[in-house]
Amino acid sequence: MCGIIGYTGPAAVKNILLEGLAQLEYRGYDSAGIAIAKDDGSIYIEKQTGQVANLKAICDQADDDGHCGIGHTRWATHGGVTRPNTHPHQVGRVTLIHNGIIENYHEIIEKFDLKDQLVSETDTEVAAALLNHFYDGDPEEAIRKAVQELEGSFAFCILFEGFTDRIFCIRNVSPLVASSTPEGSLVASDITAVIKYSKQYFVVPEYHLMVLYQDHIDLFDENGVKAEPEILEVNWDVESAQKMGFPHYMLKEIHEQPEAIIKTITPRLKNGLPCFEGEGIDDEFFKNFTNINVVACGTAMYAGMVGKAIIEPIVKVPVSVNIASEFRYSTPLIDKHTLTIVVSQSGETIDTLAALRLAKSCGSRVLAIVNVKGSSIARESDYVLYTHAGPEIAVASTKAYSVQLSVFYLLACKCALVRGIFDETKGREFIDNLYKCIDAISGVLEHKEIIEKAVEHLKDAEHAYYIGRGLDYAFSMEGALKLKEVSYVHAEAYAAGELKHGTIALIEEGIPVVAFATQDAVYNKTISNIREVKARNAYVILITKEDAEIPEGVCDLHLTVPIKDDLFTGLPTVVILQLIAYYTSIARGLNVDKPRNLAKSVTVE
Ligand code: AGP
Repeated sequence: MCGIIGYTGPAAVKNILLEGLAQLEYRGYDSAGIAIAKDDGSIYIEKQTGQVANLKAICDQADDDGHCGIGHTRWATHGGVTRPNTHPHQVGRVTLIHNGIIENYHEIIEKFDLKDQLVSETDTEVAAALLNHFYDGDPEEAIRKAVQELEGSFAFCILFEGFTDRIFCIRNVSPLVASSTPEGSLVASDITAVIKYSKQYFVVPEYHLMVLYQDHIDLFDENGVKAEPEILEVNWDVESAQKMGFPHYMLKEIHEQPEAIIKTITPRLKNGLPCFEGEGIDDEFFKNFTNINVVACGTAMYAGMVGKAIIEPIVKVPVSVNIASEFRYSTPLIDKHTLTIVVSQSGETIDTLAALRLAKSCGSRVLAIVNVKGSSIARESDYVLYTHAGPEIAVASTKAYSVQLSVFYLLACKCALVRGIFDETKGREFIDNLYKCIDAISGVLEHKEIIEKAVEHLKDAEHAYYIGRGLDYAFSMEGALKLKEVSYVHAEAYAAGELKHGTIALIEEGIPVVAFATQDAVYNKTISNIREVKARNAYVILITKEDAEIPEGVCDLHLTVPIKDDLFTGLPTVVILQLIAYYTSIARGLNVDKPRNLAKSVTVE
């Protein structure tokens, strides 16, 4: 939620900020703005509603004066999408940008009588006014005093009058990374905006005050004692965060899935079997828990649903899957015998982070499946299994989901081996099947024509239903979410057998039903459910394994996945669903990479 960039150094800052904002735009694109400390000490502020391109268009006319500045791309929380609500906010001698939510901003307005200084509806401007209230020429003191008053989450980058060659930063929960490079010092919400300048960076520790100078960065802990940052290195390059000839990031990322899965599973195999010793997790760890608690949001949570459907029947331990925003305020029945698995692409989702903390406080061990190195969730978990998908820029998660599934397969296999359920031969067969999924995905990607036929029907639909049983139901949840978020077609996933308990009332002539029947054990049952919707004249798009025998008249369009083992149909099936969502969005003329109202990294509640 919201993207932040700051730079101070020898180069002209304007284009560095605008380029950085373009890289961060997936974090929010309601409006964008920059503040530049000009060489005469004055501060130039420009802001515009809409995408960064709108801001760029007006900034292009401005001169390049200024070597220190901050920029922000907004995902609106407090106050509408208007120019006054756009960051940076300036109150008196303080100019700042903010990612997060100040929860007690009403109280602060009252306590410090700030009302008359405010021109926007934002919580951020209140923080600017509070800093200005405390500022008497010592920026660090003003920040320390202000932060003591603030409740909520924040990542601030601040320019203070009188110190316009440097940027002051502090954060709580909301992410902030920084990098000191020969070409100047940078701070940003995430590494995508920094990687052009350096592969080395550090995560700003919470409540540490950071000051960016042209040639170095100072960091101080809560007691004002100088701290050494822990330098990390990204293992991908600038090209990974670009479109590389694809028209959209989403399509590029869909195509990157075979490679991402290989990169995620291969380093974790020893003699053809899963091994997590590299991550500091020994076999004993997988023997001891009695139940698994998966917690995540959105697509990551749906990956957990598939994880449950894979692990439970093999490992025979109960797996519960919880929505993090619900779990964090619940009274969970977990303890030291529970393994909590938190799943997150960004590693910054605030609800998942809070759920992780709650699970730990109950004594549960926490294993994170995370894509972004050094992220908050990765740092706070007991163990981390990084997925190696590289940067995922499109707001709709695609490759992150399939690498999360791959890790669940590895975990299922490992648990089965250490608990004596699989012998080594069975384990290797399981891993071979996982590799077969990679070829199957490549096969699906080569045959897009049939998917385009499905899109012909979906593009004008108002509603669509995704149905399946067992594992198929788990995939269908992700399929429905994907269609909703990028094409704005209202889509719901239902357990196929549940339809007749209410939802079937919604089925009418021509309504698209994407039906999955890849599971032999429930194949006939699912086909009966499909007949029920077909009898009500739904338009049925059926997905089965290649060798399935399809009864006459049961569907209007038939798509297949080239996989034989039921447990492994998910990965290629999901790619079909992603492509259906992608092409439906394109056919409807929508911005597939930046769907309305969304942001990539959800760092507010
Ligand atoms: C996926 O397409 C969504 N944009 C969203 O549901 C996402 O998966 C969710 O917000 C969780 O994000 P995370 O994986 O970064 O924690």
